[in-house]
Amino acid sequence: MIEVRNITKRFAGFTAVDNISFTVNRSEIAGFLGPNGAGKTTTMRILSCFFPPSTGSAVVAGYDVVKDSMEVRKRIGYMPENVPVYPEMRVKEYLLYRAALKKVPRSQRKARLDYVLERCGIASVERKVIGHLSKGFRQRVGLADAMIHNPEILILDEPTIGLDPNQIIQIRSLIKDIGKEHTVLLSTHILPEVEAVCNRVIIINGGKIAASGTPDKLIGFVSEGLRIKTEIRGEHDAVLGMLKSLPYVTGVTTLKKDSLNSFLVICEDDKDVRETISQKCAEQRWPIKELRCDALTLEDIFVKITADKTDEIGACK
Ligand SMILES: Nc1ncnc2c1ncn2[C@@H]1O[C@H](COP(=O)(O)OP(=O)(O)OP(=O)(O)O)[C@@H](O)[C@H]1O
Ligand SMILES: [Mg+2]
Repeated sequence: MIEVRNITKRFAGFTAVDNISFTVNRSEIAGFLGPNGAGKTTTMRILSCFFPPSTGSAVVAGYDVVKDSMEVRKRIGYMPENVPVYPEMRVKEYLLYRAALKKVPRSQRKARLDYVLERCGIASVERKVIGHLSKGFRQRVGLADAMIHNPEILILDEPTIGLDPNQIIQIRSLIKDIGKEHTVLLSTHILPEVEAVCNRVIIINGGKIAASGTPDKLIGFVSEGLRIKTEIRGEHDAVLGMLKSLPYVTGVTTLKKDSLNSFLVICEDDKDVRETISQKCAEQRWPIKELRCDALTLEDIFVKITADKTDEIGACK
């Protein structure tokens, strides 16, 4: 559905996107994740035919973004990062105008309008002048605009930026719903958003793909093994020695050294040694205050991958 092949984009000698390739399949919601200036918007602009790549190619909905850009445009809904809506127009008037511009047949425009007004939660403001709307509502009008011609693919550049928590939940559930039938590529900095919405993550850093895969695969990719956090009261060196001596334990880090010690224990092959720890502590009469598995979050992965100066963590497919 979206196939990016070795795309590079240079601006006056500066390489914003550097030889990236990735695929987003039909009915997939892909999260495009990366720090400021990583190249997310630049890539999305290429995919939505805003400008061509310097080198490389991309196929969107079966058409080449350079050779068949008109065919691509018909099949995508693009929501740019700063939603460019006409502030002097009324919501309904604007969306009907956009529907006409996008060649939605006259007989279907009213039905499409009603659908997007309802789905984007803007039916109550349909008569309002866009310039008088709050930022969140303007954002929704931008999403409604992207959806009005029922495109096969939605490309959304930070769709939830500036929304309040309730609106974010609503827009996320809307995107999830849309993703059942459409292909969605959305960029975001918000990691819980990716975890909540996306079934595929593409991490971009410094114009290069740092990693891509399902959220679970990415966690496996950077995780060194099962992580256990524990707080044990006792003499530090003795407790540390016990933890290190356990089978399957490959590493123990002291997080806090006190009468109440805190440790991070890493186990190989995802072996969970919590029961063994509790038995050993019971034998020694060391009270345990905490003993829990500490799963890596996408946040940890993002920080790990994007903090790597070499940008060469590699991709896992
Ligand atoms: N038209 C342009 N001319 C020159 N440089 C540009 C242009 N557009 C983008 N860049 C540069 O390309 C790099 C990537 O920018 P891009 O907007 O794609 O980042 P982004 O990942 O979307 O960041 P953000 O999270 O801040 O939106 C940045 O260093 C930016 O300054
Ligand atoms: Mg951007």
